[in-house]
This record gives sequence, C-alpha cells and structure tokens, in this order.
Amino acid sequence: MLRTPLALILLMFTVAATGADAPKPEAVIHYRQSVYKVMLWNWVPMGEMVKGKRPFEAAEFKHRAERMAAATLYLDEAYAEGSGQGADTDALPAIWENRKDFDGKLQDMQREAQNLAQAAASGDEAKIKEQFAKTAGSCKACHDKYRAD
Ligand code: HEC
Repeated sequence: MLRTPLALILLMFTVAATGADAPKPEAVIHYRQSVYKVMLWNWVPMGEMVKGKRPFEAAEFKHRAERMAAATLYLDEAYAEGSGQGADTDALPAIWENRKDFDGKLQDMQREAQNLAQAAASGDEAKIKEQFAKTAGSCKACHDKYRAD
C-alpha cells in the first residue's frame, strides 16, 4: 500500500465516488418490496389478534406495532424517479404523475402506524382495534389508486 502510486490512489477514490450513483431501478423495486414484506411480517399476526383468530397478547402486539411503524419510515427512499419499471413491480405510473398526492398517502399511513404503536403501548384493546382498522384504511387508500391488483 505504501508503494501505491498517488495516481492509483486517486483512481481508487474516483471509482468509489462513481459507485455512489443513484441505485438502479431494479434495486429500488426490490428494496421497497422488501420493506413491505417486513411490514407484512408484523402486520399479519397483529391482524390475527385483532380478528380473534388467536389470543390477544399485549406485549407481542406492542413489539410488532413498534417494528411495523419503524419499517414504514424506510419507504421514504423507496420511490425514486425512474423506479416504476425495470423489474416485476405492481407500482403504477400514476405514482410519479401525482407525486404530492402519493407522498401524502404515504405520510398518512406512517402517521397511522405511529398511532397504532402508541395505542398498543396503552394496552387498551378497544383503542388498539380501532386504530388497527384506521391503519388498514390508510394502506387501502393508497393500494386502490397506486398499486396494480
Ligand atoms: C403510499 C402508498 C402505499 C401505502 C400507504 C401502502 N402501500 Fe403497500 N404497496 C404500495 C405499492 C405501490 C405497492 C407495489 C410495490 C411494487 O410492486 O413495486 C405495494 C405493495 C405492497 C405489498 C406487496 C409487497 C411484495 O411482496 O411485493 C404488501 C405486502 C403491502 N404493500 C402491504 C402494505 C401494508 C400492510 C400497508 C399499510 C400498513 C401498505 N402496504 C401501505 C403502495 C402503498
């Protein structure tokens, strides 16, 4: 390393800097689908508890609601320009044509998910169920308009 010519060192930095280009559309698509999968991993068991398909466990619900709320924030980076195609995606072009509306729906859902985590911390089952339904509504509001069935 000590003998590496300066020019080569500079070249290495240049290559590293080029590597910081915007991620490829396929990478963004895989990223966002992975985030949704992480959300769903926590969402499904919460739904089963809300619907009484399995016993309500307050501690587990709280834990999952917190993880789910945190995961929703990762979606902030999941819809880069140009990531509407390039891999198998159900994201509709309407997203990039109505960016403000889409971002608003994303923020609504992030807020509802935070509220769910807060309701879960209260341990109040009626409140939790009500907030779960509200959160589900915020998923649907976006899927109806911006996701292919
Ligand atoms: C602001 C819009 C928006 C909101 C809000 C939203 N989604 Fe989605 N969701 C999408 C879009 C668009 C896709 C398609 C992504 C793709 O295929 O590239 C998607 C895909 C998914 C997928 C499929 C991921 C996969 O495996 O490919 C799941 C699961 C999902 N969403 C769950 C949820 C849940 C649960 C919520 C609410 C807590 C939610 N979404 C809220 C827009 C949204």
